[in-house]
Amino acid sequence: MSRGNHSTVGQSIGIFDSGIGGLTVVHALSEILPDENLIYFGDTGRTPYGTKSPDVVRRYSEENALFLAEKGIKLLVVACNSASAVAMTRLREVVDVPVVGVIEPGAAAAVAASRNRRIGVVGTEATIRSGSYTTALETLCPELEIYTRACPLFVPLAEEGWVDNGVARDTAGLYLASLKNSGIDTLVLGCTHYPLLRHTISEVMGPGVELIDSAVATAESVRDILERDSIRRQGARGSRSFFVSDAPERFIRVGARFLGEEVDSAVQIRRRATTQ
Ligand code: DGL
Repeated sequence: MSRGNHSTVGQSIGIFDSGIGGLTVVHALSEILPDENLIYFGDTGRTPYGTKSPDVVRRYSEENALFLAEKGIKLLVVACNSASAVAMTRLREVVDVPVVGVIEPGAAAAVAASRNRRIGVVGTEATIRSGSYTTALETLCPELEIYTRACPLFVPLAEEGWVDNGVARDTAGLYLASLKNSGIDTLVLGCTHYPLLRHTISEVMGPGVELIDSAVATAESVRDILERDSIRRQGARGSRSFFVSDAPERFIRVGARFLGEEVDSAVQIRRRATTQ
């Protein structure tokens, strides 16, 4: 791959997620790298990934990555924890641009933040079952005590916009009770949707627990790679394009809460029948 030349600098960053949640990563990228052109693909026709098997998530992820690679991207962001948990090795084999997932940056930010070396991780069933955060955290710091908990209901709550009502508080209270008692001082929000529940999660965990948003850590990691390879675009605000595999109207409506601004438009792509 050619690095640092003018045409590569102008190419887009490709980002994919199982659906809407990766827009929290687009939000973080837009804050940290406002001049980059971003192309996002949300696999809304096959979401959620968090309840699916590793093989299926890997296959879907590979198809998503190839769709974006065909658009001539300079870097790929896997803006989905469930996909990052099981598909990174495969994705690095099938595309020839740098591939950044959300797990390693989130784990690094958590290790940097923790003082008592007790770290919690919340995520989908697929992410927690994979043990990927535990592996990434232990690789960085073998002495850690790590506590994990799958919180599947946080995903529909975030999409419904029920992020700080009684249902959200009760759900968070039930899911997080054991983590609260474990004495952690840092909690990784290991799912694209959970930053929307940040306020409620923080209320349940208390002021002594720092919440790590892997979206922000991932955007910082992307910035570091672009600078390392001299392919960061600067000068004028970049463009945003959104593609989905189903229901663009819902993506536009619900997506605004995840992106933090209006989603202007989303194009629905048609896949070959065998891949649906
Ligand atoms: N994007 C997924 C993740 O971060 C959450 C939604 C899903 O289960 O597909 O794990």
